[in-house]
Amino acid sequence: MSGLIAPSDYSQEPPRHPDLVVNAKDPFNAEPHRSALVSSYVTPVNYFYKRNHGPIPIVDDIEKYNVSVTGLIQTPRKLFMKDIWKLPKYTVTATLQCAGNRRTAMSRTRNVKGVGWDVAALGNAVWSGAKLADVLELIGIPKHSHSTPSGGRHVEFVSVDKCKEENGGPYKASIPLSQATNPEADVLLAYEMNRETLNRDHGYPLRGIVPGVIGARSVKWLDSINIIAEECQGFFMQRDYKMFPPWVDWDNIDWSMRRPQMDFPVQCAICSLEDVSMMKPGKVTIRGYALSGGGRGIERVDVSIDGGKTWTEALKYQKHGVPYIPEDASSDKWAWVLFEAEADIQQSTEIAAKAVDTAGNVQPENVQVIWNLRGILNTSWHRVKVVTAHSNL
Ligand code: MTE
Repeated sequence: MSGLIAPSDYSQEPPRHPDLVVNAKDPFNAEPHRSALVSSYVTPVNYFYKRNHGPIPIVDDIEKYNVSVTGLIQTPRKLFMKDIWKLPKYTVTATLQCAGNRRTAMSRTRNVKGVGWDVAALGNAVWSGAKLADVLELIGIPKHSHSTPSGGRHVEFVSVDKCKEENGGPYKASIPLSQATNPEADVLLAYEMNRETLNRDHGYPLRGIVPGVIGARSVKWLDSINIIAEECQGFFMQRDYKMFPPWVDWDNIDWSMRRPQMDFPVQCAICSLEDVSMMKPGKVTIRGYALSGGGRGIERVDVSIDGGKTWTEALKYQKHGVPYIPEDASSDKWAWVLFEAEADIQQSTEIAAKAVDTAGNVQPENVQVIWNLRGILNTSWHRVKVVTAHSNL
């Protein structure tokens, strides 16, 4: 027994902030309002999006809680919190983004299956915990390993929550062993979020944090960690969170054709304006976030106030009033940057934003070309309309 209890219903859910926009109640899926998202570089826990597939687990006795590390290793072991706390504590600022962020906008092109999200299914937090590379070393797997002597090549995280997609079984996902044992990949077994003990919604007492990778791989409420030969065969790895081309639909899908999505692509969104905003002609502040996956930082954010005909570069900042300096070794490669641009709007128009990452990847112009049946990875230019007060539009 790991000490984690998985309720079968939603009668013991934790309290949540009333300002969250609830996209689905049971399981609880909610995001902050987009304007609240960019008011701080570090997203407060209460406003951090919550993405669940079942009722939230409960820990009745933290002393008894343990994670079993098993599979293709010589000596399986149970790790208690006191074992994890003994390891060096690392703190990583990383943005967690759900692959379904901006799904609602994609579904306007053509219907997609999944919980609808606006542009705030992500948040930037300061995560603290043990490095997975240190934990694996503790059980005999050296740093920078690609496989174990008995053929283990993947690290599977298994929870206890009862998910209907898994026929009532737990949520699980895996990452390659090479990533898990690479200290620079900064994969954490996190027990703190924004310097406070993780709360129940975000994975108390222990969760995986896989920076630069879609949120689906950062498994909450860890019950076991398995060293396995092939990647995890669970629903959320094999029959979900895969990026299909626009011509694949439910009548011709072959899930085995595509790999599980890992890194997320370059992304940005305007948060200071609604999809349609009414305003008096004059100055407007365009503010939002930009991020990329795989540890690629943001090179540039371009903003257009004529629907994408002409562009200017937005100002990037990490903290309000502190300009973003990409050369700075301390710059957070796993975290978003916030951006800001002032514009003078005299007539109704479309404002657009697109980001470019340090590899030169840029967001696609239109959502149609990246439409996929599950509505994941909508990274198309973010566009909002402003309607000036004296216009007929
Ligand atoms: N872990 C478990 N055990 N159960 C889940 O439903 N959801 C995943 C991931 N880890 C999930 C999970 C998904 S899809 C995302 S986007 C992130 O957790 C969301 O983390 P958050 O709720 O802390 O924001």
